[in-house]
Amino acid sequence: MAVLLSGGAGYIGSHIAAELIEHGYDVVIADDFSNSSPDVIAAIEHISGRPVPCYAIDVKDNLALDKLFSEQHIDSVIHCAGFKAVGESVRLPLKYYRNNIDSAITILEAMQKHGCKRFVFSSSATVYGSENPVPYTESMPAGSCSNPYGRTKYFIEEMLKDAANADNTMSVVLLRYFNPIGAHESALIGERPNGIPNNLMPYITQTAAGIRETLNIFGNDYPTIDGTGVRDYIHVVDLAKGHVAALGYASRHTGTAIFNLGTGKGTSVLELVRAFERATGMAIPYKVTGRRPGDLAAYWADTSKAEAELNWHAEKTIEDMCRDSWRFQKALHG
Ligand code: UD1
Repeated sequence: MAVLLSGGAGYIGSHIAAELIEHGYDVVIADDFSNSSPDVIAAIEHISGRPVPCYAIDVKDNLALDKLFSEQHIDSVIHCAGFKAVGESVRLPLKYYRNNIDSAITILEAMQKHGCKRFVFSSSATVYGSENPVPYTESMPAGSCSNPYGRTKYFIEEMLKDAANADNTMSVVLLRYFNPIGAHESALIGERPNGIPNNLMPYITQTAAGIRETLNIFGNDYPTIDGTGVRDYIHVVDLAKGHVAALGYASRHTGTAIFNLGTGKGTSVLELVRAFERATGMAIPYKVTGRRPGDLAAYWADTSKAEAELNWHAEKTIEDMCRDSWRFQKALHG
């Protein structure tokens, strides 16, 4: 039996693929390469030392997905495929609703048809919205997201809960990611944003590489340790290990379970810049600009539920994350 990994050529998906294979799972990747490259599949195969079946399909394509399910023995799905650019989702909300929601429904229908009962979903801490106190716990109310991208994550969570309610043999695990950074120790896979990065770490690594002149820090007047925004950065390899734990959980339980995947520790933008400089010896020129609309001052995860029920916790430090992000950036551009 195999795990279907949608978006398996993406930043997070590729690390999940490597980790699953290392833990003895058979993995089948589905990716349309709209925001990734087939080279990544070769890199995963290099890391794992074996071929990885990959379908270059859009998971909204129900005929293509049906063919995949007919050809492979899939007993679980980890669904990472999706559009993820917050700003674009505000400009083009229907593009996000059509793609992200349709993908989840199409996969669920294919699973239903083929008797596949385990669904692990790549959700986001963004579903906690702006009203909850920190740290975020899984039982807090969700859904007051500030953008269409976040709402697609929330709506899919709700759809999955309904699907699990309607079929008591089904198992759904919703994983709420905090801020994944870092890269595989091989430096063969990592984050490869298209164009100007929206997220902090790729902007930092591109600044260190001289591709960007100066890092813009979005506000230093937040009520935080040094005025800059605080997030819970988690190494992408720790995050990937959380998925292995979630698959184990899904094989032992039915119904819906929600888990935060974070470290439980907040780091400010300036603290991350300093940690990067320490870990890599590179200087990061920066200037403080205005706040970015929609940003929250500070949030991080309560990780106690994942520790207790998944028997998982993040192990890597901020320095590990910085070092590995930089190693990947250097491998990418020499
Ligand atoms: C963002 C999304 C979140 C999504 C995640 C994916 C928003 C509101 N949230 O999280 O929904 O799941 O990306 O990774 O967009 N910063 C700078 N300069 C930069 C970039 C970022 O100062 O050039 C700051 C931000 O203000 C923030 C922190 O760095 O305080 C982290 O930002 P980012 O990496 O974009 O992640 P989030 O905004 O937390």
